[in-house]
Amino acid sequence: MRVSARTHSESRTRRGLTAPASPAGNPPPSHFIEQDYSRYQARDHAAWKTLYSRMVPFWERYANRHYLDGMERLRLDPCSVPKLEDVNRFLHPLTGFQARAVSGYIPAFEFFDCLRNRQFPTTICVRPADKLDYYPEPDIFHDVAGHVPMHTDRAFAEALVRFGECAHEAAARRSDPRAVASNIRAMARFFWFTVEFGLMQTPRGVKAYGSGLLSSHGELRHSIESPRVQRYPLQLEWAINQGFEIDHYQPLLFTISGFDELYEQVGRLTAWMREGKLDNVAPGEPHINERDLASFLTP
Ligand SMILES: [Fe+2]
Repeated sequence: MRVSARTHSESRTRRGLTAPASPAGNPPPSHFIEQDYSRYQARDHAAWKTLYSRMVPFWERYANRHYLDGMERLRLDPCSVPKLEDVNRFLHPLTGFQARAVSGYIPAFEFFDCLRNRQFPTTICVRPADKLDYYPEPDIFHDVAGHVPMHTDRAFAEALVRFGECAHEAAARRSDPRAVASNIRAMARFFWFTVEFGLMQTPRGVKAYGSGLLSSHGELRHSIESPRVQRYPLQLEWAINQGFEIDHYQPLLFTISGFDELYEQVGRLTAWMREGKLDNVAPGEPHINERDLASFLTP
């Protein structure tokens, strides 16, 4: 998500690939656009190829098996920027999820609500060639190579939908701006420490399932091998009160045992939201901007 810095809340508008369009059928929310594939240039495909090829050995070693299965099912072209239409042809029959093109910022509520509807707002721009190692905003490599393979997994997909339902209910239940901001902060933190930067304890050791790790050439190995990273079993009360910074490798990561656990934890998050336990979480990052707040106040 972008509701968390790299979780999809800032502007990500990028050169040329932003013209809004309405696909046929029901009018989509205005933030969806067409992916005009003809606008990608040779340098975009070259960047994708470089990003992809250098990740392959790291994925084989550090990615969880659900991700590797997903990559196989999606049949992404290692040499060309993916067409979302092709991605969805393989993805949709598996879990009902679809990658939908967006040009940039999606307010927090709308982002979460897309998950509830099994739609994943997907950035279609490619990061600049001189910023392959670190790019603070999501691009198509982060979103498609990092997130979308996980959406082929039924248990993970159900956890994402449940998370979207939690956000939807939070928007309906809360009207005090301070409490709403706290609820968004709690959900953003949970999302960050699971969907974006989650680790999984497996019989083959610790593996990554978080998209921020799976799309990062430098951080994937670091997250699993570095003695400088603290790794603990996911504790909900900790995660929702724990701030994070986006501009350096994460010093603290949480592990889960599987996606059934993730689903259960989202259920607990929802229960806590209903009980008001998310109304006053610890202050700090992420900062909740006005538009994210407004999106929950007037969904
Ligand atoms: Fe992300």
